[in-house]
Amino acid sequence: MIKYFIFSAVLLSVSVSFAEDAAVAEVDLELGEEINEVCAGCHGEFAQGGKKGEYPRLAGLPAKYIMEQVKNFKSEKRKNMPMRPYANDRELPDEDIPSIATYISQIKLTSKMPEFDEHTTAYEKLLIAKKVFNIAKVEGDIELGKEMYVDDCKLCHGKNGKGKKGSETPPLSGQYTEYMTRQIHHFATGERWHEYAEDLFEDMEPEEIQAIMAYLSTTDD
Ligand code: HEC
Ligand code: HEC
Repeated sequence: MIKYFIFSAVLLSVSVSFAEDAAVAEVDLELGEEINEVCAGCHGEFAQGGKKGEYPRLAGLPAKYIMEQVKNFKSEKRKNMPMRPYANDRELPDEDIPSIATYISQIKLTSKMPEFDEHTTAYEKLLIAKKVFNIAKVEGDIELGKEMYVDDCKLCHGKNGKGKKGSETPPLSGQYTEYMTRQIHHFATGERWHEYAEDLFEDMEPEEIQAIMAYLSTTDD
Protein backbone atom coordinates (compact mmCIF):
# COMPACT_ATOMS: atom_id res chain seq x y z
CA MET A 1 0.00 0.00 0.00
CA ILE A 2 2.74 2.43 0.96
CA LYS A 3 4.50 1.54 -2.24
CA TYR A 4 1.32 2.32 -4.13
CA PHE A 5 1.06 5.78 -2.62
CA ILE A 6 4.67 6.61 -3.40
CA PHE A 7 4.12 5.36 -6.91
CA SER A 8 1.06 7.53 -7.46
CA ALA A 9 2.78 10.54 -5.91
CA VAL A 10 5.59 10.19 -8.43
CA LEU A 11 3.10 9.82 -11.25
CA LEU A 12 1.16 12.87 -10.18
CA SER A 13 4.24 15.03 -10.28
CA VAL A 14 5.09 14.31 -13.91
CA SER A 15 3.20 15.44 -16.88
CA VAL A 16 3.55 13.52 -20.08
CA SER A 17 2.61 14.62 -23.52
CA PHE A 18 1.37 12.66 -26.47
CA ALA A 19 3.54 13.53 -29.43
CA GLU A 20 0.91 12.19 -31.84
CA ASP A 21 -1.82 14.26 -30.29
CA ALA A 22 -0.04 17.58 -30.18
CA ALA A 23 -3.23 19.64 -30.25
CA VAL A 24 -4.52 18.25 -26.94
CA ALA A 25 -1.14 17.19 -25.63
CA GLU A 26 -0.95 17.76 -21.88
CA VAL A 27 -1.68 14.96 -19.44
CA ASP A 28 -2.48 16.13 -15.93
CA LEU A 29 -2.88 13.09 -13.69
CA GLU A 30 -4.22 15.14 -10.81
CA LEU A 31 -7.01 16.34 -13.08
CA GLY A 32 -7.45 12.73 -14.22
CA GLU A 33 -7.91 11.63 -10.62
CA GLU A 34 -10.49 14.35 -10.10
CA ILE A 35 -12.48 13.42 -13.21
CA ASN A 36 -12.33 9.78 -12.17
CA GLU A 37 -14.58 10.61 -9.21
CA VAL A 38 -17.38 11.07 -11.75
CA CYS A 39 -16.53 7.88 -13.65
CA ALA A 40 -16.24 5.97 -10.37
CA GLY A 41 -19.99 6.37 -9.81
CA CYS A 42 -20.43 3.59 -12.36
CA HIS A 43 -16.99 2.14 -13.14
CA GLY A 44 -15.79 1.99 -9.53
CA GLU A 45 -13.10 3.81 -7.58
CA PHE A 46 -10.34 1.75 -9.21
CA ALA A 47 -12.08 1.60 -12.60
CA GLN A 48 -12.78 -2.07 -11.89
CA GLY A 49 -16.29 -1.89 -13.33
CA GLY A 50 -19.21 -3.63 -11.74
CA LYS A 51 -22.74 -4.92 -11.66
CA LYS A 52 -21.63 -8.09 -13.42
CA GLY A 53 -20.27 -6.24 -16.40
CA GLU A 54 -23.04 -3.74 -16.84
CA TYR A 55 -20.13 -1.34 -16.31
CA PRO A 56 -16.93 -2.61 -17.97
CA ARG A 57 -13.56 -2.66 -16.32
CA LEU A 58 -11.45 0.25 -17.56
CA ALA A 59 -8.35 -0.14 -15.35
CA GLY A 60 -5.30 -1.04 -17.42
CA LEU A 61 -6.89 -0.58 -20.85
CA PRO A 62 -4.58 1.25 -23.29
CA ALA A 63 -4.93 5.03 -22.88
CA LYS A 64 -5.38 5.48 -26.61
CA TYR A 65 -8.22 2.98 -26.65
CA ILE A 66 -9.99 4.75 -23.77
CA MET A 67 -9.57 8.11 -25.55
CA GLU A 68 -10.95 6.70 -28.77
CA GLN A 69 -14.01 5.19 -27.07
CA VAL A 70 -14.78 8.35 -25.10
CA LYS A 71 -14.61 10.30 -28.36
CA ASN A 72 -16.90 7.72 -29.98
CA PHE A 73 -19.39 8.16 -27.13
CA LYS A 74 -19.24 11.95 -27.52
CA SER A 75 -19.91 11.78 -31.25
CA GLU A 76 -22.40 8.91 -30.70
CA LYS A 77 -20.55 6.78 -33.23
CA ARG A 78 -20.79 4.29 -30.35
CA LYS A 79 -24.10 4.63 -28.55
CA ASN A 80 -24.05 4.66 -24.77
CA MET A 81 -27.14 6.04 -23.07
CA PRO A 82 -25.86 5.83 -19.47
CA MET A 83 -22.74 7.86 -20.35
CA ARG A 84 -24.57 10.47 -22.38
CA PRO A 85 -24.84 13.05 -19.58
CA TYR A 86 -21.09 12.67 -18.82
CA ALA A 87 -19.46 12.31 -22.23
CA ASN A 88 -20.25 15.65 -23.82
CA ASP A 89 -18.25 18.81 -24.48
CA ARG A 90 -19.50 20.63 -21.39
CA GLU A 91 -18.82 17.85 -18.86
CA LEU A 92 -15.74 16.40 -20.54
CA PRO A 93 -13.99 18.80 -22.92
CA ASP A 94 -11.67 17.18 -25.48
CA GLU A 95 -8.55 18.61 -23.83
CA ASP A 96 -9.35 16.69 -20.59
CA ILE A 97 -9.66 13.30 -22.28
CA PRO A 98 -5.91 12.42 -22.33
CA SER A 99 -5.71 13.12 -18.57
CA ILE A 100 -8.58 10.86 -17.55
CA ALA A 101 -7.61 8.17 -20.08
CA THR A 102 -3.99 8.07 -18.89
CA TYR A 103 -5.02 8.09 -15.22
CA ILE A 104 -7.34 5.12 -15.70
CA SER A 105 -4.96 3.17 -17.92
CA GLN A 106 -2.30 3.31 -15.19
CA ILE A 107 -4.50 1.78 -12.48
CA LYS A 108 -3.24 -1.72 -11.80
CA LEU A 109 -5.60 -4.38 -10.49
CA THR A 110 -4.29 -7.70 -9.28
CA SER A 111 -5.94 -11.08 -9.76
CA LYS A 112 -4.70 -12.59 -6.48
CA MET A 113 -4.76 -11.51 -2.87
CA PRO A 114 -1.12 -10.97 -1.83
CA GLU A 115 0.41 -12.62 1.25
CA PHE A 116 0.10 -10.40 4.30
CA ASP A 117 2.50 -10.21 7.20
CA GLU A 118 1.54 -9.51 10.81
CA HIS A 119 2.09 -5.75 10.32
CA THR A 120 -0.65 -5.37 7.75
CA THR A 121 -3.62 -3.65 9.34
CA ALA A 122 -7.23 -4.62 8.68
CA TYR A 123 -7.72 -1.30 6.91
CA GLU A 124 -4.77 -1.90 4.58
CA LYS A 125 -6.12 -5.38 3.81
CA LEU A 126 -9.48 -3.89 2.94
CA LEU A 127 -7.93 -1.37 0.54
CA ILE A 128 -5.88 -4.06 -1.18
CA ALA A 129 -8.88 -6.40 -1.42
CA LYS A 130 -10.73 -3.74 -3.38
CA LYS A 131 -8.14 -3.99 -6.14
CA VAL A 132 -8.23 -7.78 -6.37
CA PHE A 133 -10.22 -8.69 -9.43
CA ASN A 134 -10.74 -12.11 -10.93
CA ILE A 135 -13.10 -13.22 -13.66
CA ALA A 136 -15.26 -16.15 -12.55
CA LYS A 137 -14.75 -19.33 -14.58
CA VAL A 138 -17.30 -19.74 -17.36
CA GLU A 139 -18.84 -23.09 -18.34
CA GLY A 140 -18.06 -24.08 -21.91
CA ASP A 141 -15.72 -25.89 -24.28
CA ILE A 142 -12.36 -24.35 -23.32
CA GLU A 143 -10.45 -26.32 -26.00
CA LEU A 144 -12.73 -25.13 -28.79
CA GLY A 145 -12.63 -21.59 -27.39
CA LYS A 146 -8.85 -21.58 -27.35
CA GLU A 147 -8.65 -22.90 -30.90
CA MET A 148 -11.07 -20.24 -32.14
CA TYR A 149 -9.27 -17.54 -30.20
CA VAL A 150 -5.87 -18.49 -31.62
CA ASP A 151 -7.22 -18.72 -35.19
CA ASP A 152 -9.42 -15.61 -35.26
CA CYS A 153 -8.63 -13.20 -32.41
CA LYS A 154 -5.04 -13.57 -31.23
CA LEU A 155 -3.51 -11.63 -34.11
CA CYS A 156 -5.04 -8.41 -32.73
CA HIS A 157 -5.97 -9.13 -29.09
CA GLY A 158 -2.62 -10.76 -28.30
CA LYS A 159 -1.47 -13.97 -26.68
CA ASN A 160 -3.99 -15.19 -24.06
CA GLY A 161 -6.13 -12.11 -24.58
CA LYS A 162 -3.57 -9.89 -22.88
CA GLY A 163 -3.45 -7.29 -25.64
CA LYS A 164 -0.23 -6.33 -27.36
CA LYS A 165 2.42 -3.94 -26.16
CA GLY A 166 1.97 -0.58 -27.83
CA SER A 167 -1.28 -1.63 -29.51
CA GLU A 168 -4.52 0.28 -29.05
CA THR A 169 -6.58 -2.90 -29.31
CA PRO A 170 -8.20 -3.72 -25.97
CA PRO A 171 -7.09 -6.77 -24.01
CA LEU A 172 -9.96 -9.24 -23.44
CA SER A 173 -8.45 -11.12 -20.52
CA GLY A 174 -9.74 -9.65 -17.25
CA GLN A 175 -12.83 -8.10 -18.83
CA TYR A 176 -16.32 -9.10 -17.66
CA THR A 177 -17.82 -12.04 -19.55
CA GLU A 178 -21.33 -10.53 -19.66
CA TYR A 179 -19.96 -7.24 -21.01
CA MET A 180 -17.95 -8.92 -23.80
CA THR A 181 -20.84 -11.19 -24.77
CA ARG A 182 -23.04 -8.11 -25.08
CA GLN A 183 -20.43 -6.37 -27.25
CA ILE A 184 -20.17 -9.40 -29.54
CA HIS A 185 -23.94 -9.24 -30.10
CA HIS A 186 -23.57 -5.53 -30.89
CA PHE A 187 -20.79 -6.33 -33.39
CA ALA A 188 -22.93 -9.02 -35.01
CA THR A 189 -25.88 -6.64 -35.46
CA GLY A 190 -23.68 -3.70 -36.50
CA GLU A 191 -24.76 -1.62 -33.50
CA ARG A 192 -21.06 -1.25 -32.65
CA TRP A 193 -18.23 -1.22 -35.17
CA HIS A 194 -15.59 -4.00 -35.19
CA GLU A 195 -13.17 -4.83 -37.98
CA TYR A 196 -14.35 -7.79 -40.12
CA ALA A 197 -17.45 -8.10 -37.91
CA GLU A 198 -19.36 -9.83 -40.68
CA ASP A 199 -16.80 -12.63 -41.02
CA LEU A 200 -15.96 -12.88 -37.34
CA PHE A 201 -19.27 -12.54 -35.52
CA GLU A 202 -22.31 -12.71 -37.77
CA ASP A 203 -22.47 -16.50 -37.94
CA MET A 204 -21.01 -17.23 -34.52
CA GLU A 205 -23.12 -19.77 -32.62
CA PRO A 206 -24.00 -19.08 -28.96
CA GLU A 207 -21.94 -22.17 -27.95
CA GLU A 208 -18.94 -20.75 -29.81
CA ILE A 209 -19.21 -17.40 -28.04
CA GLN A 210 -19.58 -19.34 -24.79
CA ALA A 211 -16.47 -21.37 -25.65
CA ILE A 212 -14.35 -18.26 -26.30
CA MET A 213 -15.60 -16.75 -23.02
CA ALA A 214 -14.81 -20.00 -21.19
CA TYR A 215 -11.26 -19.91 -22.57
CA LEU A 216 -10.76 -16.20 -21.80
CA SER A 217 -12.00 -16.72 -18.22
CA THR A 218 -9.00 -19.04 -17.67
CA THR A 219 -6.47 -16.42 -18.77
CA ASP A 220 -6.59 -13.89 -15.92
CA ASP A 221 -5.32 -16.00 -13.01
C1 HEC B 1 -23.83 6.51 -15.44
C2 HEC B 1 -22.86 5.44 -15.54
C3 HEC B 1 -21.52 5.74 -16.19
C4 HEC B 1 -20.64 6.78 -15.89
C5 HEC B 1 -20.78 7.86 -14.85
C6 HEC B 1 -19.49 6.57 -16.76
N1 HEC B 1 -19.68 5.46 -17.54
FE1 HEC B 1 -18.36 4.72 -18.90
N2 HEC B 1 -19.66 3.23 -19.39
C7 HEC B 1 -20.90 3.05 -18.82
C8 HEC B 1 -21.54 1.88 -19.45
C9 HEC B 1 -22.92 1.32 -19.14
C10 HEC B 1 -20.62 1.38 -20.40
C11 HEC B 1 -20.81 0.15 -21.32
C12 HEC B 1 -21.59 0.51 -22.53
C13 HEC B 1 -21.84 -0.70 -23.42
O1 HEC B 1 -22.35 -1.70 -22.93
O2 HEC B 1 -21.44 -0.64 -24.60
C14 HEC B 1 -19.45 2.26 -20.34
C15 HEC B 1 -18.32 2.10 -21.14
C16 HEC B 1 -17.19 2.88 -21.07
C17 HEC B 1 -16.01 2.69 -21.88
C18 HEC B 1 -15.77 1.59 -22.92
C19 HEC B 1 -14.93 0.48 -22.33
C20 HEC B 1 -14.55 -0.57 -23.32
O3 HEC B 1 -13.94 -1.57 -22.91
O4 HEC B 1 -14.81 -0.40 -24.52
C21 HEC B 1 -15.12 3.68 -21.54
C22 HEC B 1 -13.72 3.89 -22.10
C23 HEC B 1 -15.75 4.49 -20.50
N3 HEC B 1 -17.01 3.96 -20.25
C24 HEC B 1 -15.15 5.57 -19.89
C25 HEC B 1 -15.77 6.36 -18.93
C26 HEC B 1 -15.15 7.53 -18.34
C27 HEC B 1 -13.76 8.03 -18.67
C28 HEC B 1 -16.06 8.06 -17.46
C29 HEC B 1 -15.94 9.30 -16.63
C30 HEC B 1 -15.69 10.53 -17.36
C31 HEC B 1 -17.25 7.20 -17.50
N4 HEC B 1 -17.03 6.18 -18.40
C32 HEC B 1 -18.39 7.41 -16.76
C33 HEC B 1 -21.46 3.80 -17.81
C34 HEC B 1 -20.90 4.93 -17.23
C1 HEC C 1 -8.15 -7.19 -37.03
C2 HEC C 1 -7.99 -7.07 -35.59
C3 HEC C 1 -9.00 -7.77 -34.69
C4 HEC C 1 -9.41 -9.10 -34.72
C5 HEC C 1 -8.96 -10.19 -35.67
C6 HEC C 1 -10.33 -9.26 -33.60
N1 HEC C 1 -10.49 -8.06 -32.95
FE1 HEC C 1 -11.77 -7.69 -31.41
N2 HEC C 1 -11.28 -5.73 -31.43
C7 HEC C 1 -10.35 -5.14 -32.29
C8 HEC C 1 -10.36 -3.71 -32.09
C9 HEC C 1 -9.47 -2.70 -32.83
C10 HEC C 1 -11.34 -3.45 -31.10
C11 HEC C 1 -11.80 -2.08 -30.61
C12 HEC C 1 -12.95 -1.67 -31.52
C13 HEC C 1 -13.38 -0.24 -31.34
O1 HEC C 1 -12.60 0.66 -31.72
O2 HEC C 1 -14.47 -0.01 -30.82
C14 HEC C 1 -11.88 -4.73 -30.70
C15 HEC C 1 -12.85 -4.90 -29.71
C16 HEC C 1 -13.31 -6.14 -29.26
C17 HEC C 1 -14.18 -6.32 -28.12
C18 HEC C 1 -14.73 -5.24 -27.20
C19 HEC C 1 -13.77 -5.03 -26.05
C20 HEC C 1 -14.18 -3.90 -25.14
O3 HEC C 1 -13.46 -3.68 -24.16
O4 HEC C 1 -15.20 -3.24 -25.39
C21 HEC C 1 -14.41 -7.67 -28.01
C22 HEC C 1 -15.28 -8.38 -26.98
C23 HEC C 1 -13.69 -8.31 -29.08
N3 HEC C 1 -13.02 -7.36 -29.83
C24 HEC C 1 -13.67 -9.68 -29.31
C25 HEC C 1 -13.00 -10.29 -30.36
C26 HEC C 1 -13.05 -11.72 -30.61
C27 HEC C 1 -13.78 -12.72 -29.73
C28 HEC C 1 -12.30 -11.93 -31.73
C29 HEC C 1 -12.07 -13.26 -32.45
C30 HEC C 1 -13.26 -14.02 -32.78
C31 HEC C 1 -11.78 -10.65 -32.18
N4 HEC C 1 -12.23 -9.67 -31.33
C32 HEC C 1 -10.97 -10.45 -33.28
C33 HEC C 1 -9.54 -5.81 -33.19
C34 HEC C 1 -9.69 -7.14 -33.58
